[in-house]
Amino acid sequence: MTAPLIDPFQRPVSYLRLSVTDRCDFRCTYCMSENMTFLPKRDLLTLEELDRISTAFIRLGVKKLRITGGEPLVRRGIMTFFNAMSRHLESGALKELTLTTNGSQLHRFADDLFAAGMRRVNISLDTLDAKKFSDITRWGKLDNVIRGIDAAQNAGLRVKINAVGLKGFNDDELLGLTEWVASRDMDLTWIEVMPMGDDIDGLTRLGQYWPLKELRAKLAEHYTLTDLSESTGGPARYVRIEETGQKVGFITPLTHNFCESCNRVRLTCTGELYMCLGQEDRADLRVPLRASEDDALLEEAIREAIRLKPKGHDFDYSRQDVAGKMSRHMSHTGG
Ligand code: GTP
Ligand code: 5AD
Ligand code: SF4
Repeated sequence: MTAPLIDPFQRPVSYLRLSVTDRCDFRCTYCMSENMTFLPKRDLLTLEELDRISTAFIRLGVKKLRITGGEPLVRRGIMTFFNAMSRHLESGALKELTLTTNGSQLHRFADDLFAAGMRRVNISLDTLDAKKFSDITRWGKLDNVIRGIDAAQNAGLRVKINAVGLKGFNDDELLGLTEWVASRDMDLTWIEVMPMGDDIDGLTRLGQYWPLKELRAKLAEHYTLTDLSESTGGPARYVRIEETGQKVGFITPLTHNFCESCNRVRLTCTGELYMCLGQEDRADLRVPLRASEDDALLEEAIREAIRLKPKGHDFDYSRQDVAGKMSRHMSHTGG
């Protein structure tokens, strides 16, 4: 038996978020700047290398594999990778293969993803207003995303919508989004905006910050909320809206730190393993991967990295100033 991955704070690492590209067909203002310099293709791990690394993590006890980006579905040939990963679902070694996507390309992939064993996708959508949608994503079209959601549901995929809560932007859509998501039998998770990347258009992360406690209190004025103890293995805490039966999640890195139960690490598309979303600690896995065809060096490098996993992030907006800010963009590590 291979020993599982346990970090210095006795947290088992069972969840790998794998970014397969840093590119995206959108430019969400809280995620990227308008003019991004992307990595040259030669720096990317190949699809075979992504398979080798994922398989090594699964051998070491990873049960949940979430594919992220940039936008994962713009990576050329990505279905080859998903199809290859389905062998780990079939063997039972992997419990969940899933995806976080902006939805723009989903209509082309939904059926194939279901066939590869995927059962659930998270789709980012912050507003139902076409004009606001093109403002926040700079390049996105709402219709394409709705088409992607339709295709995902028709394919049999369960859909969760991720909305970043932004003061002055979508706070007026709290009830509208909630009702729309419920009417389509989807789940919804609100995320507090994190201080990553650049402040843009004179808007600071602090100015946009909408504490999810406020959002929850507003929801509670309209609906009966019941706290749920269940977890999907991610950081969200869930409530059920009794009137609609729908599950609403809150990801609150700022108002409630969930790092004590952190179970995940992130791999970038060049093979850097980030041990925390909000810290710089990272380890290069590409070198040991390429140094030999055998996985012994790679596995040792993974174990060594997990021994350095930090306790948590230091994001904090509380002193009317932003602490713990990360200069890298969210798209670098896939959220
Ligand atoms: P589920 O499997 O549905 O629970 O998904 P998840 O919440 O693990 O994944 P998803 O990609 O939907 O995550 C949504 C967002 O939550 C990410 O893009 C990040 O912005 C944030 N998030 C996820 N994990 C962490 C984490 O470890 N720390 C912090 N600060 N934020 C996180
Ligand atoms: N703060 C919070 N969430 C963010 N995302 C991107 N940038 C940020 C940020 N600064 C979210 C997206 C998407 C996921 C990939 O990360 O909305 O749901
Ligand atoms: Fe692309 Fe997602 Fe970043 Fe928006 S949040 S730019 S859709 S990676």
